[in-house]
Amino acid sequence: MLCCLNFLKESSGVMTAVQQRYDVQKVREDFPILSERINGKPLVYLDNANTTQKPLQVIDAISNYYKHMNSNIHRATHVLGERATLAYEGTRGKVRDFLNASSTQEIVFVRNATEGVNLVANTFGKQNIHEGDEILISEMEHHANIVPWQMLCDRVGARLVIIPIDDTGDLILDNLDKLINTRTKLVGIVQMSNVLGTINPVEEIIRIAHSKGVPVLVDAAQSAYHMPIDVQRMDCDFLVFSGHKLYGPTGSGVLYGKKELLEKMDPWQGGGDMILSVSFEKTVYNDIPYRFEAGTPNIAGGVGLGAAIDYITNIGMENIAQHESDLMSYGTEVLQDIDGLRMIGTSRHKASVFSFVLDDVHPHDIGTMLDSDGIAIRTGQHCAHPLLARCGVPATARASIACYNTREEIDALAASIRRVQEFFS
Ligand code: ALA
Repeated sequence: MLCCLNFLKESSGVMTAVQQRYDVQKVREDFPILSERINGKPLVYLDNANTTQKPLQVIDAISNYYKHMNSNIHRATHVLGERATLAYEGTRGKVRDFLNASSTQEIVFVRNATEGVNLVANTFGKQNIHEGDEILISEMEHHANIVPWQMLCDRVGARLVIIPIDDTGDLILDNLDKLINTRTKLVGIVQMSNVLGTINPVEEIIRIAHSKGVPVLVDAAQSAYHMPIDVQRMDCDFLVFSGHKLYGPTGSGVLYGKKELLEKMDPWQGGGDMILSVSFEKTVYNDIPYRFEAGTPNIAGGVGLGAAIDYITNIGMENIAQHESDLMSYGTEVLQDIDGLRMIGTSRHKASVFSFVLDDVHPHDIGTMLDSDGIAIRTGQHCAHPLLARCGVPATARASIACYNTREEIDALAASIRRVQEFFS
């Protein structure tokens, strides 16, 4: 077992509590990059909302793929082809279980969450959204869940409608009933904001949308590596996530779609693998999900994604969520103690992200000075320009946590922020 979970029995005579201990040092041993020294200091990696680091299990799975099975999939009659196909399709089964989808037919491999949204916009959107229709998204979406819909709206004459947020970074849902009306053809909503950390009540939004017959796409790019996801319980129609944020390789990702919807959707890219037969007169398309997967895919990436899912499943998503929640409380306390630091995003339903600004210091300067202390954060607009405009700041500094981060790293972050303040005072 990669992560140690020691079950400590506590017998007080009144009750017996079973407490799980999450061994973060053991987890860290799985991530070789965490031993790097940056500018002579130990790496403190807090840019996880941008991309997470990869455990040895993922690195080895990719290396093993190239050493022992590299071949094209679905079309080779030789042993290597069979190994590669089994490994790649094995990941589809792992994703189905990870999301609790009802079938592997509902799992479409894409390059990342962005491509998943673009796929839906160019298939479902093109077929079902027309002039005068509306697509409802929120003010806290990142560009991946804005621009594809905007492009579609421009093409067909539909319009984007926006769910506003309040000053703490929560969605204002009082008017949702009115915002979703007969013109609404799709709701696209982020489960967890990459800037604010806000966790949205997606199940409630889906329930209301469905009561009006409107399908919902959930952007789980930021949430999938922080909390368990159950698409059947959530009852979303589409859901997307990126492998690279889930401790997996870049260029791997997933679109989940309800079978009955995917079956009605036209393909979006043409080529090999997405067909059953081709003549110059007519092409017969393949069944779902292959109909949406034209050309040779990122096979090694798919295999690596399977290893990443095994990895976090072995640790347990609940255990990861609990560890991160503890770190979140600790970090909030420590950072709020810094005079002149203002947190952007203070929802009570928040996870894993500390976005902040400092009086009189540009976030890029914060990022550069933290980097000289070996601390990696992201600064800027986080691919969410409209949200930053709503928050009234040109940019933020953002520290974001993952399963391998520690309280000591939060302390190092706070100490480094204080040094930045001293330098600029
Ligand atoms: N990768 C982007 C981020 O850093 C979206 O949040």
